[in-house]
Amino acid sequence: YSLKLYNTFGVDAKAKYFAEVSNFTELKKALVFRRQNNLPILFIGGGSNMLFVNDFNGLALKLNLKGIEIINENDDYVEVKAQGSENWHQFIQWTLTQNFGGLENLSLIPGNVGTAPIQNIGAYGVEAKDTIVEVQALSLETGDERIFSNEECKFGYRESVFKNELKGQYVLVSVTFRLSKRNHQLKTSYGAIQQELEVEGISNPTIQDVSAAIIRIRESKLPDPAQIGNSGSFFKNPVISNSEFEKVFAQHPTIVNYPAENGVKLAAGWLIEQAGWKGKRFGDAGVHDKQALVLVNYGNATGKEIYDLSENIIQDVQSKFGVTLEREVNMIF
Ligand code: EPU
Repeated sequence: YSLKLYNTFGVDAKAKYFAEVSNFTELKKALVFRRQNNLPILFIGGGSNMLFVNDFNGLALKLNLKGIEIINENDDYVEVKAQGSENWHQFIQWTLTQNFGGLENLSLIPGNVGTAPIQNIGAYGVEAKDTIVEVQALSLETGDERIFSNEECKFGYRESVFKNELKGQYVLVSVTFRLSKRNHQLKTSYGAIQQELEVEGISNPTIQDVSAAIIRIRESKLPDPAQIGNSGSFFKNPVISNSEFEKVFAQHPTIVNYPAENGVKLAAGWLIEQAGWKGKRFGDAGVHDKQALVLVNYGNATGKEIYDLSENIIQDVQSKFGVTLEREVNMIF
């Protein structure tokens, strides 16, 4: 069964079994099938953060759990529960039509609501964890439901418990967000947002203005997966210790860097560009010409070709800067 339509890289990998489920009953049935047949399982949401390096010799399960409801509110806040298969960007657009604030900076990130907590998606100074109240999950082993509070999710930079201790043990079925109804706390200090608003002549921005500005910035730098296969940032921005940083800085005084909790965060896009990879193309696999952090499939690249390209970049950046890049995208071997 071809998975080409189910991953934003557009890689034509095959799955041994494929099923689509639209409610908990069907989902639980599929979980029983996979337990009885002892199959590896792969959940397909938006397919925006995975690279099929090989074919998948198990059950690929497309989730189609839809619905948005307000479960709690007062004059200041609202709690909104969204089912996992709601498209992330469309969900944010809905919150903005209701004038609910908090998610506007995360506009246009590909993927679905249910995958956002797994890697705590983030952009422009905001992370998913800032508004998540709780996450509803089903155990793959027992099918039982479990609620994870924000704290139990152990969120970090592109990290959560679901990528670490509990990897492969739960499927996320809904997420509850706490959003503001008034006195919205705008975050416009990051990068180009302020500048973009000024260009538009907006001095008193609304949450809708911030979203629109971010959409324009992202569209100018990041390729649209509907046109060129990609998965957003392929690598994480690496954090290195202060002493390591001093060494790199001595040799590369223009290196882009930010203070981080336990050291210094470097811009992986800068490292990759300086190493000479930006805009390079090998067959149909390439490095995006406007943002070196993004690897692209121009048409018929295989997952292996994209993976090999990422491996070459990691080795080259390692030898030129002594810094080890880590992939952000999930590799499916
Ligand atoms: N840079 C370069 N060359 C490049 C790309 C970037 O020199 O080809 C430099 C820029 O000039 C800038 C710095 O690197 O000084 C940072 O670039 P940018 O602001 O574009 O952000 P980023 O670090 O490349 C991160 C996230 C993005 C998120 C943006 C905006 C990661 C791995 N990536 O990118 O997230 O949209 O910040 O907040 O943290 C994603 O995760 O898929 C993603 C797109």
